Amino acid sequence: MMGREVKNIVLIGFMGTGKTSVGLRLAQKLGMQFIDTDSMIEDESGMKISEIFAKNGEEYFRDLETNLVRRICKLCNFVIATGGGIVKRAENVDNLRSSGLLIWLDASPEVILCRTSGFNHRPLLQVPDPLGQICKMLKEREEFYSQADHRVDTSNLTVDEVVDKIIDIFKGAMKIGRDPR
Ligand code: S3P
Repeated sequence: MMGREVKNIVLIGFMGTGKTSVGLRLAQKLGMQFIDTDSMIEDESGMKISEIFAKNGEEYFRDLETNLVRRICKLCNFVIATGGGIVKRAENVDNLRSSGLLIWLDASPEVILCRTSGFNHRPLLQVPDPLGQICKMLKEREEFYSQADHRVDTSNLTVDEVVDKIIDIFKGAMKIGRDPR
C-alpha cells in the first residue's frame, strides 16, 4: 500500500461473497459514493447480464467490463463493487489497484452456494452441479483474487461485521499512506 493513493475502496471476490451488499453499506457508513460494475453494465447496455451472456457471449461481457474499468479507475471517493470475474484480466486488476485499496471478499463454497441458489441471474452458476462449479472456479480464480491488499472471509460474518472490518483496514491504510511531513 505504501506510496499508493487510496482514492477508492474496491471490492473483488467470487459471486455471493457480499460485494454489493457490503459495498452499499460501507459507502453509506463512510459517506462515499457507491457503484457496482454489473449494474453499470446493465444500465449502459440496456440488457441484463444473463441476456448479454446469452446473446453475445462471455468474452463480449468481459470487453464491456474492461472498458468500464478503464473509466471508473479515474474516480475518487467511491466504493466500487465488481463482478466476480473482473479479475480474470490482468489489465483490470492493474487499473483497479491503481485506483485504490483492493479488498478480496471470500467465503466457503457451501456458503456461496447457499447465498446464490434461489437466484437465476448469474449465468455461470446455471449448471447441473453448482457446488462443483463453484469449487472449480474458486480454485481457478484464487491466484487472481489473492492479488488484493487484504482478504476478508465473510462466511460467518454479517454485512455490518464485514463493513467494520473493512473500515479498520481502510483507516490503517490511510495512516500508512499519509505523508509524514
Ligand atoms: C460473474 C459474476 C457476476 C457477473 C457475471 C459473471 C463471474 O457478478 O459479473 O454473472 O464471472 O464471476 P457478481 O460477482 O456480482 O455476482
